[in-house]
Amino acid sequence: MSLKDKEKWNAKYDSSTCLAGREPSRWLVDHADLLDGRGKALDIAMGEGRNTLFAASLGYEAWGVDISDIGVSRAQSLARENKLIIHTQIADLDHFKIDEDAYDLIICFYFLDRRLFEGIQKGLKAGGILVFETFTVDYLKYSGFKREWVLEKSELRSAFPELHVLDYQEVDEPENETAYASLVARKE
Ligand SMILES: C[S@@+](CC[C@H](N)C(=O)[O-])C[C@H]1O[C@@H](n2cnc3c(N)ncnc32)[C@H](O)[C@@H]1O
Repeated sequence: MSLKDKEKWNAKYDSSTCLAGREPSRWLVDHADLLDGRGKALDIAMGEGRNTLFAASLGYEAWGVDISDIGVSRAQSLARENKLIIHTQIADLDHFKIDEDAYDLIICFYFLDRRLFEGIQKGLKAGGILVFETFTVDYLKYSGFKREWVLEKSELRSAFPELHVLDYQEVDEPENETAYASLVARKE
């Protein structure tokens, strides 16, 4: 299953430069005032690293993990181009343990594995921030995604009971054929 994921994502990254673009996610940028740049950040399923790089640019010791070696090596090239340092790990998140009490910031964009939710909560230090965004069930109107790959309505808002929700939105944009939920939460 995950070997297939690796091949699938490597093929996508191979056929296009910067699939998700070079710009960091708007939701992350819009909440940068909550991110003081101190300590360690982890970008889960970093892809080509657009958000890992943003975390590094804020001053975090930025770590990213992804199964695609092509995505990760592109992220490292972008980091070099931008004179930033990022730390990367090529790993299958199906078998990944997030270090506990280790991160001041955890980012997860457009990757959903509910088995990681508990580890994400435990991985944050007190005061640490989670920024998460991915597709919701409304996205099924626009894609051939399977239901288990998308969030249910309101699911993300209550997915991390140990965290305090600071901001949350659910968006359905027919004009862009996308629908997603976004969360910012803090570990008290
Ligand atoms: C839609 S991309 C999102 C990339 C990045 N977060 C962004 O928003 O630009 C999903 C990412 O999940 C990664 N991925 C998929 N399955 C994975 C797995 N089992 N372990 C680690 N990474 C995985 C893919 O390689 C891909 O880079």
